Amino acid sequence: MDRRLASKVALVTGGASGIGRATAIAFARSGASVAIADADMAGAQETASYIEGHCDARASAIAVDVADAESVRAMVRSTVEQFGRLDMAFNNAGVHDRAASLHVSTQENWDRVMSVNLEGVWHCMRAQLDHMLMTGKGAIVNNASRSGLVGVPSDGVYGAAKHGVVGLTKAAAIEFASKGIRVNAVCPGLVETALTRARFGDELAARAKLANLLGRMAQPEEIADAVVWLCSDSASFVVGVALPVDGGATAR
Ligand SMILES: NC(=O)c1ccc[n+]([C@@H]2O[C@H](COP(=O)([O-])OP(=O)(O)OC[C@H]3O[C@@H](n4cnc5c(N)ncnc54)[C@H](O)[C@@H]3O)[C@@H](O)[C@H]2O)c1
Repeated sequence: MDRRLASKVALVTGGASGIGRATAIAFARSGASVAIADADMAGAQETASYIEGHCDARASAIAVDVADAESVRAMVRSTVEQFGRLDMAFNNAGVHDRAASLHVSTQENWDRVMSVNLEGVWHCMRAQLDHMLMTGKGAIVNNASRSGLVGVPSDGVYGAAKHGVVGLTKAAAIEFASKGIRVNAVCPGLVETALTRARFGDELAARAKLANLLGRMAQPEEIADAVVWLCSDSASFVVGVALPVDGGATAR
């Protein structure tokens, strides 16, 4: 079994579901202790119980609203109190765009998408960097999207937030590389999760066929593997990338 992250501590936001849940499990299978933070505490508990039962690793569930800076600071404090350190963070919690087009998007939709998907990542990085700067080491991966690299019709507001995540990632990478902290982003294409089911409903299967060069959706585990690699020493020279994990969608 690959235990390359043994003795390390990972924090995953949005770990109750989808890509975050798969990544928390992948961290644990690599030997890391994992803090699973989510607004859905029951779901986070469920991920933590699964890890403790199946992965021979420690896990803990933490309630957080990533849109709230104080709640995020408490999440990082709690992780360090419970596990003694913080080595890796996956800032993944996110919501989908509820507007069919940016020209009919409401202020409420804009505020919600921006506060969770963009401001949430900023809150998380600030709190994590406070800790990592003290230890002089760390790896952060932010979950952007294909919509953070190219324009996607019907993802106008969501895409603006995700382009922002890529910008924050690159700026932080440049600022903190010399301090021992690597910051990168993953940019998934269409992944089969609760988010895409809620966003696309009955259209999902048809979209999946056209979404990329492979003609299918990704499974959350396929994104999780990229995140764990980016956080590991195997990616020690990888800094400031926005890595497409999208079945070639952005190649064309
Ligand atoms: N599914 C895809 O196709 C896809 C593609 C590209 C990027 N992404 C991104 O991946 C991330 C995860 O998405 P997913 O598809 O796994 O969705 P998901 O709905 O399965 O999981 C998202 C999780 O985030 C949590 N969350 C939402 N708002 C929160 C908040 N304010 N505070 C704390 N937790 C909160 C939810 O409770 C949920 O557990 C998102 O950032 C999304 O934008 C998804």
